[in-house]
Amino acid sequence: MIAPEYSLRDGNTIPALGLGTYGLDDQAGIDAITAGIADGYRLIDTAYNYGNEEAVGEAIRRTDVDRSDLVITTKLPGRHHGFDETIASFEESRSRLDLDWVDLYLIHWPLPRIDKFVESWRAMISLREKGLVRAIGVSNFTQAQLTRLIDETGVVPVVNQVELHPYFPQDELRAFHDEHDIRTESWSPLARRTELLAEPTVTEIAETHGVSPAQTVLRWHVELEAVPIPKSSDAARRRENLDVFGFALTSEEVDAISALSRGRIWGADPETHEEF
Ligand SMILES: NC(=O)c1ccc[n+]([C@@H]2O[C@H](COP(=O)([O-])OP(=O)(O)OC[C@H]3O[C@@H](n4cnc5c(N)ncnc54)[C@H](OP(=O)(O)O)[C@@H]3O)[C@@H](O)[C@H]2O)c1
Repeated sequence: MIAPEYSLRDGNTIPALGLGTYGLDDQAGIDAITAGIADGYRLIDTAYNYGNEEAVGEAIRRTDVDRSDLVITTKLPGRHHGFDETIASFEESRSRLDLDWVDLYLIHWPLPRIDKFVESWRAMISLREKGLVRAIGVSNFTQAQLTRLIDETGVVPVVNQVELHPYFPQDELRAFHDEHDIRTESWSPLARRTELLAEPTVTEIAETHGVSPAQTVLRWHVELEAVPIPKSSDAARRRENLDVFGFALTSEEVDAISALSRGRIWGADPETHEEF
């Protein structure tokens, strides 16, 4: 199964679903990511701070899938905000990934108290101009922070990767993304499993379609046109998670799942969260 793609505002494309890699480390991580690519995942999500860029690089070397068919994402950590620091941090990531170019580079968290994300954004614009990065975006940015980037540099992020799942559907932020042609990516799309997959709303809709609760939730993301990046260390669950393009939810089913809304699962508010 290969996911369909969306066009990004800069002309690049992004698969409609990707593989999260937080916690996929070492040999087991290399094997899981390699198997994920063999099963059809083309969008791979890592970060400097996951400590597994080398494992991702090794999986890319092992695969026989054409490099230009993969969309490799990594992220700038908080401790490297600033123009020169961003360039140096990117080179460290690129070297660990062992890549000529990175497909999608994101600012991991805005860290408004440090107030250097605009400088980092300027560095990312220059990395893109040099061809070292194909597309640039952000993660965990609020509407106000996105507006500041756009107003001060004129360059709109192609993606904002944010916490998004049925417990936290982010209606307002998604509407803002739509207005500015920013693609939403959903992190913790299964709400880290929690009790979400046992919610009667989810299990009943799953039964109607003859699919699993995880597939129901991931299809809900697809119906919202957000790009989920579920992580699984298990081969069967990774295949299950990718297999969500053969059925559709009705708008009533989408609304019923969105009505599970209650807030963030671990409380990391981008206005205050600091992760270095
Ligand atoms: N930008 C950011 O700040 C940020 C923050 C958090 C995460 N992320 C990214 O988003 C990715 C995904 O988020 P996440 O790992 O926090 O949470 P998630 O993908 O919502 O959930 C992962 C959990 O769900 C389980 N799971 C996966 N597929 C399943 C299935 N089909 N049925 C039942 N359980 C299933 C996994 O267990 P098994 O592994 O045992 O299958 C794991 O415990 C991360 O890996 C990372 O790449 C980004």
